[in-house]
Order: sequence, then C-alpha cells, then structure tokens
Amino acid sequence: AKTRHFRWDVGYMFWSPDCVENVVMAINGQFPGPTIRARAGDTIVVHLHNKLHTEGLVIHWHGIRQLETPWADGTASISQCVINPEEPFVYRFKVDKAGTYFYHGHYGMQRSAGLYGSLIVDVAEGEKEPFHYDGEFNLLLSDWWHQSVHEQEVGLSSNPFRWIGEPQSVLINGRGQYNCSLAAHFNNSTSKLCKIKGDAQCSPHALRVLPNKTYRLRIASTTSLNSLNLAIGNHKMVVVEADGNYVDPVAVENMDIYSGESYSVLITTDQSPSMNYWVSLSVRGRKPNTPPGLTILNYYPNVPAKLPILPPPVSPLWNNYTHSKSFTNKILALESKTPKPPTRFNRRIYLLNTQTKINGFTKWSINNISLVLPSTPYLGSMKHNLKGAFDPKSPPERFSHHYDVMKPAANPNSTHGSGVYVLEFNTTIDIILQNANALAENVSEIHPWHLHGHDFWVLGYGEGKFSEKNDEKKLNLKNPPYRNTAVIFPYGWTALRFVTDNPGVWAFHCHIEPHLHMGMGVIFAEGVNRVKNIPDAAIGCGLTAKLTKNNGL
Ligand code: C2O
Ligand code: CU
Repeated sequence: AKTRHFRWDVGYMFWSPDCVENVVMAINGQFPGPTIRARAGDTIVVHLHNKLHTEGLVIHWHGIRQLETPWADGTASISQCVINPEEPFVYRFKVDKAGTYFYHGHYGMQRSAGLYGSLIVDVAEGEKEPFHYDGEFNLLLSDWWHQSVHEQEVGLSSNPFRWIGEPQSVLINGRGQYNCSLAAHFNNSTSKLCKIKGDAQCSPHALRVLPNKTYRLRIASTTSLNSLNLAIGNHKMVVVEADGNYVDPVAVENMDIYSGESYSVLITTDQSPSMNYWVSLSVRGRKPNTPPGLTILNYYPNVPAKLPILPPPVSPLWNNYTHSKSFTNKILALESKTPKPPTRFNRRIYLLNTQTKINGFTKWSINNISLVLPSTPYLGSMKHNLKGAFDPKSPPERFSHHYDVMKPAANPNSTHGSGVYVLEFNTTIDIILQNANALAENVSEIHPWHLHGHDFWVLGYGEGKFSEKNDEKKLNLKNPPYRNTAVIFPYGWTALRFVTDNPGVWAFHCHIEPHLHMGMGVIFAEGVNRVKNIPDAAIGCGLTAKLTKNNGL
C-alpha cells in the first residue's frame, strides 16, 4: 500500500459550467475538483489550503468510513473545526475498500457552490473485481443554479421562506448546457441547438468507445436537490456496484440515482458502430423545470461531434414512483462479497421526517427536532466530556403512534436541537426512517439519507407507517444491499441496520443540501472514549480550543 499526497488550494474562480459565466468553488483552479485515484489499503494525505479568503471550509470524503480517523471525516461542527481563511489543514485517512466514491464541502451549502470531485479506489494490488471490463468512464453528476449559494442560503433561512426552485442545469462532470439543447432537432419544444466550441468549459465530454467491448461507468451523484434517471440510447446497463459494495448484477434500461449514491454499471458496445448514442440524465421525483443533461456515447471511428440519429432515450415520468421503487428493489447484495447483517438488533430508533415551522421559519425536523450544529465540534467536546457544548438530552427514540403520516401535521411547530444519539459500542442498531406529509396537503418528498462512518444494510422499503406486526417479517436479512445512502419514498418507510463498530461522531442526514441546511439530520456517537490521536488542528476551536493549547492533547 502507498501513501498518496495531494496539495490542494481551494478558492473561488469564474467558470461557465452550463455556458453561463458564474463563480464556482474550485480546487487548484479545477471544477469539479481533481479526481483522487488510489488502491484499497492506500493512505490519502490531502494538504489543504483555504483560499476562500472570507469563509471557512471543510471537505468530507463521502463513503469512506474513516476507520480510526473520525477527525478526518470533514464535517464542520461534528468531526472538526472549520478551516479558517488562509489556514492549512491536513486530512490523512485510509481508503480501505475498493469502490466509487466522491468528496465534497460539508460546511454551509458549499457542496452546491461546486466544491466536489471524484474519489476512486481500485482493488488492492493482486486482487480482482468480480466482473470484467475493457475500459472505464467516470460520470460525476450534479445540478447547478445561477443564483449564488449565499442567496440560496439566505432565502431558505428567511421568513417568508424563499425556495431555491429547480436548477438551471444538470451537470455531467461539471458540464451542462443552459438554454439550448444538443438534441434540439428532436424536440418539438422551443429549445435551440447548442453551438458550443469543443474547448468551451460547458462542452460535453463524449465517452469514446470501441465497438464490441465492455465498459464500466462509474456514476456518483452529488446533486444539491435533484434525483436523476440515467438512460443510454440502445444500451442496457448491468449494475454491479452500489456505494462501494458489490451488488448482484442486474440489467436495466434506465436507473435512478439519488444524491449521495454511487453506482458502477457495465455496458457492452454491441450496437451499430456507424453512429453515436445519447447518454441522458433526467430529473425525477420533482416536477422538472430542468432539461435533461446530455452527453454522447461516441463509437470509434465516428467523431464525437456527430449527433445521434435517434432521439434521446425516453425516461420514465418524473412522478412514476412505481418505476423508482421497482429499480430500488432490484439492487441486492452480491452475497459472496458482502457481510451478512446480524439477525437481531439491540436498539431500534424510529425517525419521523417532517416539514415544520419554528417561529414562522420553515424547517425540516426529525421526531420534531430540527438539527442546529454547535460551535464546538462534537468529537472534541464528547471526547473531553465538556459540559454545555450541545444539548445534553438524548433526542426522542420514536414518535407518537397516533401521528398520521398521510396528512399535514395537526401542529406543524417544532424546536431546534443539537442533541446526540449516543449508541453503545459494538451493538446492532436499527433505524426506521419514516416519511410523512409535508406542510402542504398531498405533498411528500423523496429524501436520500446518508450515514457517515458506516455502511448499513437496507432491510426493506414499504408504504405508509412501519408496523412491527406486519412489516417486520418482510425485512430482508438474506441479501440486503450494503450501502451508505438509502432513499425514503413519499409516504413510505425504509429500514436500515448497522453495527456501531467505528468509534467517532457521525452525521446521518438527508443528502439534499437545502434540507440538511433546514435541519434534516441527526447525530450518532459511539465509542468516543476509544478515539485516539485527534490532531490539535481538528478541534482547536470553541470550548475545546483551550484544551489543545494547554495540554497539547
Ligand atoms: Cu455526502 Cu454528510 O454527506
Ligand atoms: Cu430531504
């Protein structure tokens, strides 16, 4: 195994992700940030320098469990202090498991500002993937607004509330096309054909393939808001990996990707090599106001600029949840390569997801508490048993069984909180995520929940309120997918199981950036007394600042 060093300067720059000039957060002048590529077992060392000048910064390594390095998880107020303007910080962590991952800012709404990139871990030297492929491509998916994240953030935190609306563009590897379409000549719509120079910042990266080969597409979604559906004209996709774990191979015509998820799919280039084909990403789960993101599957020897003869693949209707559920239920673990879930749990926590009000401000709440992060990072204050750093009371384990998840709440008011679910070390925890109606009638949204520090088994999905009597026996303990992100469907529940084997403080939250900003998350902590060697720089702020200065910890 190797130690791989990276030197990163993070700063703002002008850029035109969708052909419209804007300001993005860039790493070493690149947007998206540079791809980290390593082998399982390697140590990654990122020497970061905050050149944002007026704002703090942290970077989260999404999907990396941070075994023995919980301080390197890159979550502001949770695992570390924000890195101040002009200051350096060094992340050092092991990538223990091959897979498709990504990284992104985890302070305020910096992910929406464009602070993200890919992190790809190949199998260790001498090991093999359980499938064959001749080449690979990387598709990092995001959504993009022309309004600055600062304006977005102020709108979300204002009364009256101002929603950010739908994005202007869907980006593939940071590239999209606003107000024009590569496929305009197929639309009866008014969109005009894009005239983009090949070297423009918004010109699509074609996927250049040879006929009769197998390619691996690594797909990861860091969208701020949108759920996406990927389809490739004339080509089936065989899903083989989800969130850094192998899945039982399954062939699909199109697939849903929620924010925080990653997949690998295999495609075979067995179609007529006389033409090119579309790769299309359309919006799901919310009434789209954003045209699909497009790029080209370019069969050699055609030129990439040669547009496909066929129209882009038709994607399922945005509100066809039956289709989404059927795709989600097809993703199952590759049993020979996946650990089995314990058959029993020690503690089961029910988390009700509701949209609420606090003094007239619109929030999202879990068991009626909307998360606000403390100024002192939990990892430091819990490690040193400091009083007064966060709400000492444990948040509720469940919600009233009278709660009607199909209707707006009788009382929509909730409270702020910073309490922690302290989990006993090395125990099995079940989480029942329960969706409900939002503030408005007949509205229930999709929420992709992401857990830090762990993979979990997704034991099942269901409709309405989870019932111990009827739903328990339907849980899949045989081959549940092992993942770090799982969605809850409108008016439904999702059951997760994980083992508290990783000392640290871990966020568990909706991966929709505005929802997290509005309080949609909880904090888990386990075995914090076992955490060793927290660098001073990680917790030298707030109530723990003095400790690091006097004792050097
Ligand atoms: Cu990718 Cu806490 O998130
Ligand atoms: Cu959400």
